[in-house]
Amino acid sequence: MVQFFKRPLLDIVHNHLIEYPTPVNIHYFWNFGFLAFICLAVQIITGIFLAIHYTPHVDLAFYSVEHIIRDVNYGWLLRYAHANGASIFFIIIYIHISRGLYYGSYVAPRHFTWVVGVFILLLIMATAFMGYVLPWGQISLWGATVITNLVSAVPLVGNSIVTWLWGGFSVDNATLNRFFSFHYLFPFIIVAIAFVHMAFLHQKGSGNPLGIDSAVDKISMYPYFIIKDAFGLVLFLLFFSLFVYFLPNLLGHPDNYIEANPIVTPNHIVPEWYFLPFYAILRSIPHKLGGVIAIIISILILAFLPWITNINVRSSLFRPLYKKLFWILFSIVLILGWIGGKPVEMPYVVIGQLITFLYFVYFLIFIPFLGRLEKFLVNYKTVY
Ligand code: HEM
Repeated sequence: MVQFFKRPLLDIVHNHLIEYPTPVNIHYFWNFGFLAFICLAVQIITGIFLAIHYTPHVDLAFYSVEHIIRDVNYGWLLRYAHANGASIFFIIIYIHISRGLYYGSYVAPRHFTWVVGVFILLLIMATAFMGYVLPWGQISLWGATVITNLVSAVPLVGNSIVTWLWGGFSVDNATLNRFFSFHYLFPFIIVAIAFVHMAFLHQKGSGNPLGIDSAVDKISMYPYFIIKDAFGLVLFLLFFSLFVYFLPNLLGHPDNYIEANPIVTPNHIVPEWYFLPFYAILRSIPHKLGGVIAIIISILILAFLPWITNINVRSSLFRPLYKKLFWILFSIVLILGWIGGKPVEMPYVVIGQLITFLYFVYFLIFIPFLGRLEKFLVNYKTVY
């Protein structure tokens, strides 16, 4: 009986972690998927222990977090690992996505792996947003108020939906409670979807930096890539420790150490750094509903990339113009991130609008046009 249950499980581990045929030429940028799993595990484990001591009530939440840091054994470690872990998770995921963009991992046959990835990204964003509300500091309250209020832009039913989301007529105890509940639930859904992500990937096999058929030259995952991932993990832990032990509050907002106060609005309400580029897009559209639509499209557009691209050549190593465009997109996102943290005044408003325009031009005009141009150049055997 035990054998009956054991075999299939062992087979899964054997086929996907030991014998899994891995392209021989993948380099360190292929470590980031594994590191994303590590981040997810760190967030879930530290989160469960934090929840033991945290109280999701508007009168107690702020002080329960202080209590965790000051009184609970190693509570400071749990809290700082979790808070910084969210930031590090986004660093890892953004590098993982950039690798996908640079080496064309999103092009068929890994397009479904990519689409599932975009879905995971949305879930991670929702989880991080709700998590930031839990310490019940000033930015928690006002950030939640600003972002949930965006839904009121939906014609006719917008205001009703906002009231329903809040569980009342402002961000208050009911909101904190439901955010806590969903913040606890979502990571487990992310785990499930991450396995779907892996199932799609392992069905077709991993890509490689050359972007050519990865069946050409493969070796087993163990020991080669398990050891390589383990080495990457050591470097990752060093990087992570730097923040947790030496700069625990560098990435947070100082105002979030002031308890939430519904009658005092902070001077600048800024989201966490990883939302800043999207926040800049939202604010660049001088129309509430337009801004909401723009921010949604700016993320969802990634899911359509395999179809917008319209080309079979994957890696930018064989697409010199695409390689340049990649760095242009990289700069666009950095500038948007910078604008997202600035106040809504000149010249930031105009720069933000210009760069937002370029962001959409990149995906809707440059990318489809480049695919066609490259096909034309290849057909006419032109060296470019
Ligand atoms: C919890 C979040 C995620 C986890 C745990 C995860 C995990 C992984 C792992 C372990 C791999 C194989 C190793 C590697 O290529 O790095 C992988 C590959 C991949 N991931 Fe993710 N991933 C996540 C999010 C995303 C997101 C947000 C995207 C894109 C929007 C994405 C797109 C891809 C693609 C296209 C591949 C195939 C790369 C190739 O083989 O060339 N992933 N992922």
